[in-house]
Amino acid sequence: MNVLILGSGGREHAIAWKISKSQDLTNLYVAPGNAGTSDVAQNVDVSATDFEQVKAFVLQKEIGLVVVGPEQPLVDGIVDYFGKDPDLINTLILGPSARASLLEGSKDFAKNFMKKYNVPTAAYQSFSRDQLEQAKAFLRQLKPPYVLKADGLAAGKGVLIANDFEQAEKALTDMLVDEKFGVASEVVVIEEFLDGMECSVFAITDGTDYKILPVAKDYKRIGEGDTGLNTGGMGCVSPVPFVDEGFMQKVESKIIKPTIKGIQMENLKFNGFLFLGLMNVDGEPYVIEYNIRLGDPEAQVILPRVKSDFLELCLGAAKNELASTSIEINDEYALSVIAASGGYPEKYEKQKQISGLDEELGAMIFQAGTTKDNRNITITSGGRVLAVTAMAENIKQAREKAYHALEKIHFEKIYYRKDIGKDLLE
Ligand code: AMP
Ligand code: GLY
Repeated sequence: MNVLILGSGGREHAIAWKISKSQDLTNLYVAPGNAGTSDVAQNVDVSATDFEQVKAFVLQKEIGLVVVGPEQPLVDGIVDYFGKDPDLINTLILGPSARASLLEGSKDFAKNFMKKYNVPTAAYQSFSRDQLEQAKAFLRQLKPPYVLKADGLAAGKGVLIANDFEQAEKALTDMLVDEKFGVASEVVVIEEFLDGMECSVFAITDGTDYKILPVAKDYKRIGEGDTGLNTGGMGCVSPVPFVDEGFMQKVESKIIKPTIKGIQMENLKFNGFLFLGLMNVDGEPYVIEYNIRLGDPEAQVILPRVKSDFLELCLGAAKNELASTSIEINDEYALSVIAASGGYPEKYEKQKQISGLDEELGAMIFQAGTTKDNRNITITSGGRVLAVTAMAENIKQAREKAYHALEKIHFEKIYYRKDIGKDLLE
């Protein structure tokens, strides 16, 4: 079978790497991909959000399965587009419908869904622009810290946690009245603060059955000790020591099962990856957010731990035949550190030559913001440049291996956090 992966990040490099090992694979393409994906697949100069272009390529290369990496084409309705087009009847696509993607695309939709299907989440209320006064009155009833979220997609930056009332009130006005996040903040969700430890649980589903993928912890802030600005993620560890079997059983019974039931009751077509951003509050799981795709850099620690044929799982989920597949997970630890361009997540320079990629590293490299120049040399092209993933029987050794590999990789103004996984030792 010919497979096309849409996207260009480290997540898509990890997906491509994993699928490239499948026995069922004939040709593998990534659109648009990056310098790393071209090592395991053929890059295609097609934008993941240009559905006409994607269709033309799918027909030209007789693609049997499209795997959608990022959320934007899903929220834009690529799965519905494929479903409606008679020319694409023979092509499977793995990803949820536009309506199902609202679980990520609209916080208000997601919160209402959780309430309706009894999925534990923080208490909340949503407000639109003409409800500023009501929103302030609601804020006054809460205790600090205050959590404010822009309703729509804001690339992980639409959440604000304020420690005092004045700060929260100002942020509320910025979002609702001054549209700080554009249309994404035309509606704002205000919610109760959950105090606990965060982790992410993933499942692959066909909307009826599901298989639980490895759990991960993401390091979202740019600075060591979880300080500074939020990023797309600066590192990841899987599995997570504070997630035990008892907690996972609660996640399955209190969150995954009711979520799948809700997906069925609401007729949301959901074939794809369910990503649960969770808070462990005194041993009880609460959903902070749903995402409808794999995480980045979570994929870079999850997929190396999946022992089963990943293409088979993807096909099972796309064909509504997930029940007939099986999943086996490696019990080693995977730890991934993101090397970023100095300055990220704010202004940074690009086109820096990357050295060390061909050395014996003892770790895997999943590239993200990379491209090749006209001399075929790999250069930087984004903020998060690459992920170094190491595997070992414990976090200490995985850390040593990952940081040892990073010492051999260089580009001008390289930056990475040195404390990934450090809080999980012992
Ligand atoms: P989100 O985009 O919804 O995942 O939120 C971004 C981050 O804000 C999360 O990863 C949490 O660290 C934090 N956060 C979001 N909602 C809450 C909440 N209700 N209580 C505490 N922290 C939260
Ligand atoms: N690492 C968080 C995300 O992919 O949304």
